[in-house]
Amino acid sequence: MPVADVAVHLDPGSLAAQMAVDVRAGLTASPKTLPPKYFYDARGSELFDEITRLPEYYPTRTEWSILEARVGEIAAATGAHSLIELGSGTSEKTRLLLHALQDAGTLAAFVPFDVDPAVLAEASAQVADEFPGIEVAPVVGDFERHLSLLPGEPPRLMAFLGSTLGNLEPDHRSIFLRGVRSALGPDDAFLLGTDLVKAPERLVAAYDDAQGVTAAFNKNVLSVLNRDLGADLDPTAFEHVARWDPDREWMEMRLRSLRDQQVRVAALDLDVVLAEGEEVRTEVSAKFRREGISAELEAAGLRLTEWWTDPAGDFALSLSRPA
Ligand code: AVJ
Repeated sequence: MPVADVAVHLDPGSLAAQMAVDVRAGLTASPKTLPPKYFYDARGSELFDEITRLPEYYPTRTEWSILEARVGEIAAATGAHSLIELGSGTSEKTRLLLHALQDAGTLAAFVPFDVDPAVLAEASAQVADEFPGIEVAPVVGDFERHLSLLPGEPPRLMAFLGSTLGNLEPDHRSIFLRGVRSALGPDDAFLLGTDLVKAPERLVAAYDDAQGVTAAFNKNVLSVLNRDLGADLDPTAFEHVARWDPDREWMEMRLRSLRDQQVRVAALDLDVVLAEGEEVRTEVSAKFRREGISAELEAAGLRLTEWWTDPAGDFALSLSRPA
């Protein structure tokens, strides 16, 4: 079947306006922050891809192994006709799910959902090619705002993999999970990938690898601001920092200013002063425990029905349904 027209709920203009608002808010806050979603231009996505293959970065391959072991159960438990994938940067995992649903004889449609039209076009074309019998209906949107607009014949399986949930702080997780809940019908299910709390040394190594790929990924956000907002940030004037916060149980990435400096963001007509040693927080990546995520799901009106981990307990996949 041909790929359906992309349903666009976000135009390039509103994305650019959002970036301007986010960057101004983050760089004028104290302490300074930048939202992690701006890592992922073409270069950033490439670097992230490289990260997923690093020896220290266990989440991607671990989630893959759990999924590989459980796709049959997931297909049987959900009987899904439509697979909705939030953030379609995980196409190999998607294909595993699509194959299992096809083998179970229920698969009719795939709905990839992403902010990036280029990422979507590629994911859609690949899937349409490999699964000629199904409908592919891509949607451009923001997963914090447009979940209620997603198509797909029920029962639907909504998948949010890669522990991307961890990039949201608790308030936003709660808003997001309530959005998922209200987008789901009574027979739909939510498949969630969450990285789990473990020894801090392993977490820090995963976010500060020996080859410096994560450092380059972190600094790439500076190039994005230079290009998209006419900023004059010098990547060599910052160093990569990865830190475990034991109270909030999340990893943080920061960019630490190596000197006193003043930077300009032309598109915002904004000058920002950074002191030597000052850190800009660029990402939080929360790590979860079963009781905690189960309570968060519950608070959003979702009941956790399945919980699968790898033998070492490093990562979890869970299946939830409207309560
Ligand atoms: C996008 C959630 C998968 O938080 O682990 C990888 C992004 N940041 N290394 C994560 C990331 C640093 C990643 N996810």
